[in-house]
Amino acid sequence: MGLHVTALRPDVLTLDLADGPARFHAIWLRDNARDDASRDVVNDQRLFDISELADEVVITSAEVVDGRLCVEFGPDGVVSTFEAEWLEAHRYDGLERGSPEAVPWLAADLDPCRLAWSRRDDPSARSAATAALVRDGLAIVHGLASGHEPTGPSIAEVAGIWGPIRETNYGEVFHVRAEAEPVNLAFTPRALNVHTDNPYRRPVPGIQLLHCLVASQAGGVTVLVDGFSAAETLRSEDRGAFDMLSGHRVPFRWRGDGFDLRNRAAVIEVDDRGVVLAVSYNNRSAAPFDMAYAEMSGFYEAYRSFANLLHRPEMEYRFTLSPGECLVFDNQRVLHGRAGESDPDRYLQGCYLDRDWVHGSIGNPTEGSTP
Ligand SMILES: [Fe+2]
Repeated sequence: MGLHVTALRPDVLTLDLADGPARFHAIWLRDNARDDASRDVVNDQRLFDISELADEVVITSAEVVDGRLCVEFGPDGVVSTFEAEWLEAHRYDGLERGSPEAVPWLAADLDPCRLAWSRRDDPSARSAATAALVRDGLAIVHGLASGHEPTGPSIAEVAGIWGPIRETNYGEVFHVRAEAEPVNLAFTPRALNVHTDNPYRRPVPGIQLLHCLVASQAGGVTVLVDGFSAAETLRSEDRGAFDMLSGHRVPFRWRGDGFDLRNRAAVIEVDDRGVVLAVSYNNRSAAPFDMAYAEMSGFYEAYRSFANLLHRPEMEYRFTLSPGECLVFDNQRVLHGRAGESDPDRYLQGCYLDRDWVHGSIGNPTEGSTP
């Protein structure tokens, strides 16, 4: 069935689209007019500001010509055509919008995507790894340097598959190994509870890389938990707890090395449509909670429920990162930790990337818009 105009008022147009009828406001269509005076033909960016339109924008005529919608607006007389596919993709009437990209997983379902370093320039291998980072929140790159005096591809080169390293006060590359006076418990052999890194930073690092150079003989098992999966489970099992965690921001703080880093983040961050955007969970850097007295005990109840969920065995994907392998993961989604004491010889390097280098590198590049 093709595109049809089924009702027309000066302020609202109703169309029959493939997914059913959809209404469009005159002001919305005018704001998104596709004519050459409204959009740049090269970069498709809008050429006018909303304040330049008349107070009352109306539709003076609308018809389908050659499968495309042709609309004339008043009072400025602009004529614009809209492709059926574009209208389908941007309809806002009668469709629930979710996040189609991330697919929550349980440990038993996860089969991490592996990218061989030697195939990094193969477009299909590379885009499969990027798609896995968006879908599962992680991928593994293998065939890299290993040992205490490594030769071969470094973590910086792995980061470069997607984009430049985001440097922090820990340096461009940080070193996860036992230190004499560690500024962070990560830099000791201790077991580490599952967590997201650096929730005390604003913005929080989006993508993290961990490259294993020397593995532990005993212990040092990596534990990964899909925070989105845990958040969705909490939403279905205890809606009140989910609302409590998504409705409050809590303080995170890290001090050391001449820095005092602070941020406030929701343990579960959702957008205005309820889609989970990020999880921030770190028992080491969570600062004293500061919500109102009347909310404190309820918040702790919700926080403990979520923590218990994160530690359910079916949530925990356990594996040992081998020398020469680099785990790449969404730091605002996939929690990581290590089970058991690792031996002091274990040596990993880590770094961060901004998430745009991964999440922005797929999709339709012609749909670019203004920052
Ligand atoms: Fe960490």
